[in-house]
Amino acid sequence: MNLIFFGPPGAGKGTQARRLVQERGLPQISTGDILRAHRKAGTPLGKEAQGYMDQGLLVPDSLIIGMMAERLREPDCREGYILDGFPRTVAQAVALDELLAQDESRIDCVLVLRVPDEQIVHRIVGRRTDPETGTIYHLEFKPPPAELTERLVHRADDTEEAVTTRLAEYHRSTAPVAKYYEQRGVVREVEGVGEIDTIYGRLLAAMEG
Ligand code: AP5
Repeated sequence: MNLIFFGPPGAGKGTQARRLVQERGLPQISTGDILRAHRKAGTPLGKEAQGYMDQGLLVPDSLIIGMMAERLREPDCREGYILDGFPRTVAQAVALDELLAQDESRIDCVLVLRVPDEQIVHRIVGRRTDPETGTIYHLEFKPPPAELTERLVHRADDTEEAVTTRLAEYHRSTAPVAKYYEQRGVVREVEGVGEIDTIYGRLLAAMEG
């Protein structure tokens, strides 16, 4: 099954996708995580992406499409995957369709997490990630164990200023991608506000419905 987790920054895509990975064994392919790994490794792609990411701007399509064409060719993608943060522009969605068509494959379901903008900033600014396990915490909503506090990471783009830009980018360039998939009847809207477990239940119901 090829799934897309879709929604604004901080909607809970990563939180929910990680759980589905554990239960269904599909790989989670997060363009944000891949880009951050490139930055950490100091690759040319990472260096080029850095300025865009820190400001909260989208990285140019040409860089993202090439990166994803490579990733989706890897063997772990043969039985399906969860795309998290891709496609984020209509041009990326069209490029993904072209890649999928080569294997006579398609996107089965686009799960759209709905969270109002007012809640996004609070979620993003309080996020902390464990670099060793990848676990996503929130200082208030999912507090990390005290013994981990020192090693947790606060992302460079998780500031109020960058989030405002990221939300504007979402509404301008990314929201139209949901419309692109709506025409095919594969979009499922899921209320993204509430307990993390409750939302996971809604996502499973939406996938199966
Ligand atoms: P990326 O890493 O993809 O960031 P994002 O889409 O902005 O999404 P986030 O990771 O911020 O949020 P999320 O929805 O995964 O939320 P999470 O589960 O962590 O992209 C970063 C940058 O990379 C982009 O700005 C861009 O520059 C570049 N980029 C990436 N992909 C690109 C592409 N395709 N094209 C161009 N550029 C690209 O949850 C957030 C917080 O909320 C956590 O603290 C969590 O604990 C908490 N939380 C989760 N669920 C709940 C809940 N139900 N109630 C309360 N709190 C909750």
